[in-house]
Amino acid sequence: MRTFCYLLLISLFLSLCNASIVEDTCKNISSSNPDIVYDFCVSSFKSYNATSQAADQRTLAIIASRLANSTAAKTQERIQELMEAEKNKPRKNRLDVCMEVYSLAIDDLRTAEQAIEAERDPDAVVFLSAASNASSDCEDAFAEAKDACPLEKENGEYDQMAAIALVIVAALHR
Ligand SMILES: *[C@@H]1O[C@H](CO)[C@@H](O)[C@H](O)[C@H]1NC(C)=O
Ligand SMILES: *[C@@H]1O[C@H](CO)[C@@H](O)[C@H](O)[C@H]1NC(C)=O
Ligand SMILES: *[C@@H]1O[C@H](CO)[C@@H](O)[C@H](O)[C@H]1NC(C)=O
Ligand SMILES: *[C@@H]1O[C@H](CO)[C@@H](O)[C@H](O)[C@H]1NC(C)=O
Repeated sequence: MRTFCYLLLISLFLSLCNASIVEDTCKNISSSNPDIVYDFCVSSFKSYNATSQAADQRTLAIIASRLANSTAAKTQERIQELMEAEKNKPRKNRLDVCMEVYSLAIDDLRTAEQAIEAERDPDAVVFLSAASNASSDCEDAFAEAKDACPLEKENGEYDQMAAIALVIVAALHR
């Protein structure tokens, strides 16, 4: 019984601390980056059980880049669906551009994650910056043709997730 109580106390303590690291980090990020919404930041980390895993900023940085990766993968699934339904060739080509830039982003995010793990933070910043361009590159493909981008929501979420990862990593090597 006593052991159980200690364990309960320890896990309660840990979950309180970790909840506050996610919330503190999200508060800091959203206050200095108007594009990042605090609630989106917190709920993204919570969806990854980050509150039960993240002990430090480096772990949070890795989780953020994995979340950006899964957002990119989800966006690709959506692009695939749209491509299958699309009859208009130029529009299909624009969707193909989006598919391609998200593929590159997924590669860059993998490299970034390895760099964060190896504490090569400046390298991680380079790869995260490149990866974070996927959403705007996809938007541009449609904007240049004066066509409405059907991926606005997906691009917006990816943009925020990639920015969160980038800001956390950029703060690591200070
Ligand atoms: C948030 O910002 C404050 C003030 O700059 C800083 O003291 C604190 O360590 C930061 N917290 C996190 C989790 O980054
Ligand atoms: C988070 O934890 C819950 C309960 O422990 C589990 O059911 C869920 O699968 C976990 N989610 C992830 C993304 O690991
Ligand atoms: C990225 O996400 C995809 C789909 O969820 C997954 O298969 C892949 O392993 C992830 N890559 C990394 C480096 O986490
Ligand atoms: C990402 O986008 C910015 C602004 O549009 C641009 O300056 C930068 O060169 C791009 N980076 C890469 C790696 O494409």
